[in-house]
Amino acid sequence: MPSSPPIPAKKRVLSGMRSTGKLHLGNYVGALANWVKLQDTHDCFFFIADWHALTTDYADPSEVNVNVDEVALDWLAAGLDPDKCVMFVQSHVLQHAELHLLFSMITPLGWLERVPTYKDQQQNLSGKDLTTYGFLGYPLLMAADILIYKADFVPVGEDQVVHIELTREIARRFNNFYAQKNPLLPEPQPLLTKTPKLPGTDGRKMSKSYDNYILLSDSEADIRKKLKTMVTDPARVKRTDPGNPDLCPVGDLHKIFSDAKTLENVYAGCRTAGIGCIECKGWAADNLIKTIAPMQERRREYQQKNVVREIVAAGDAKARSVAEATMKQVREVMGLSHSISPASAGATARQK
Ligand code: TRP
Ligand code: SF4
Repeated sequence: MPSSPPIPAKKRVLSGMRSTGKLHLGNYVGALANWVKLQDTHDCFFFIADWHALTTDYADPSEVNVNVDEVALDWLAAGLDPDKCVMFVQSHVLQHAELHLLFSMITPLGWLERVPTYKDQQQNLSGKDLTTYGFLGYPLLMAADILIYKADFVPVGEDQVVHIELTREIARRFNNFYAQKNPLLPEPQPLLTKTPKLPGTDGRKMSKSYDNYILLSDSEADIRKKLKTMVTDPARVKRTDPGNPDLCPVGDLHKIFSDAKTLENVYAGCRTAGIGCIECKGWAADNLIKTIAPMQERRREYQQKNVVREIVAAGDAKARSVAEATMKQVREVMGLSHSISPASAGATARQK
């Protein structure tokens, strides 16, 4: 029998999300929906970046732990399938910290200081003291997250692209110093997917910090209530004023979640003042709920079976073995293969 041609290995995708509690529609539309698709076509690793959450929330870490469970449950609800992707928690794979430390040896301070998000975020989050070592190293920890899995692609939002750029520079510098003949750490590519604009109830970008969000886990009643207060096209002051769905945040929701027929009715009704905003918002809520309902069903199932921690632990183990394999190579080329790694020694001790 002729042997079939080898199946090309799937390209590896890695991405992370800070553990900031229950996820909202913006997280879904902007990232998760895309991850759910990628798990069918790529070798996917997705992790909860709890250490990254600590770089800004270190003064009150009480939320970080609860949040990890919330995020994992939301991921499963949204359709990430533990049989198709590896989902894990950053702090459960100590090798990330080891690589971050080793990278810190080779990274010029200026590279980190000139990352635009560094000064921007310090200004944006002015209530927090972010003149810390950990915060400066935020993108370097990201580089370790990515390179330890030798990821080909990193799906991220526009704001994170500079961090991927830095990651590529770190990989180059590392290979240059220690692995010139045989580059050890491949340079990853950002995977920028065009995501639709998702406004919050106040018309600004949906965000935890604006209190304008709709959670994936919000009840139907809450969703309807939140939509009722949502801002609309300011031109529609009176019921008889015509409006334009392209200038209305509710219109944006329709474009993402509503079927073609509804959308048609929205455009026609809004432009002629044939419908009122209350009716229009009701339709938006109906369609939103239609999208979210299967997620909430899955959420209930996973919660009932009480398996979230187990699923994450299995993901941790898979991630750890890939990360440790890279670290063996890294230690080797950096002249550190003379001792048992602290990380693997720790793993043995725990099993006893
Ligand atoms: N910094 C990313 C964010 O805020 C989260 C993150 C941490 C990440 N490590 C990563 C994303 C590695 C991609 C790859 O969204
Ligand atoms: Fe917005 Fe709908 Fe009102 Fe038009 S009818 S302004 S799309 S809420």
